[in-house]
Amino acid sequence: PAFWVVIPAAGVGSRMRADRPKQYLQLAGRTILEHTLDCFLDHPQLKGLVLCLSVGDPYWPELPGASDPRIQRADGGNERADSVLSGLLRLLELGAQEDDWVLVHDAARPNLSRHDLDQLLLELADDPVGGLLAVPARDTLKRAGADGRVAETVDRSQIWQAYTPQMFHFAALHRALADALVAGVAVTDEASALEWAGLAPRLVEGRADNLKITRPEDLDWLRQRWSNKV
Ligand code: CTP
Ligand code: MG
Repeated sequence: PAFWVVIPAAGVGSRMRADRPKQYLQLAGRTILEHTLDCFLDHPQLKGLVLCLSVGDPYWPELPGASDPRIQRADGGNERADSVLSGLLRLLELGAQEDDWVLVHDAARPNLSRHDLDQLLLELADDPVGGLLAVPARDTLKRAGADGRVAETVDRSQIWQAYTPQMFHFAALHRALADALVAGVAVTDEASALEWAGLAPRLVEGRADNLKITRPEDLDWLRQRWSNKV
């Protein structure tokens, strides 16, 4: 199916503790954000892409991609969900229709493979709800007590880590996100807004190395992995 993409890139990257938002740190000769955009820009089924940036972001205008006509901008908000909602409103201006698919993908996830992207599109093409790339929990899981000791071991057989892209129909996603934000529900990914609206997004197993760059060691790991890509 044809699809639109929203890339939330308006975070500050506090856990990364770098001198700039993490999406602008270097990876194999370019910024993380440029690699992330590349995952989508040449895809034959892409209808359009919206990049959500902090108001006054000084880094994006310096990059070659800033003049790429395939990339439309939207203003980010205080929380990730606010940024995504702003991106959806921009998609509306660009002509997105109710039933169109929208893929939301973190700017800080530059290692998405074309295989995983196409698998998501394929597995969800006829799905009534949509879904997300996700990875089954690998390690044994512990619930911590207040004293910093193990309170219990959690059954991991039904636990998955939510990745992106997350893929939903434009109207359903827009309504669920807007309603959840008004209701003050904590929405850390798109799926949780749909869940709050009573829907059950489908889990599509993806590669664990489509990781979100969150802490310095994540970037160290990816730089090492990509050291032959320069
Ligand atoms: N994001 C956004 N708008 C926000 C907050 C986050 O567009 N108000 C984006 C980030 O730029 C990132 C993605 O959402 O691409 C995932 O968020 P996260 O990994 O939490 O990034 P940051 O919020 O930047 O990092 P931190 O939480 O460590 O500050
Ligand atoms: Mg954050």
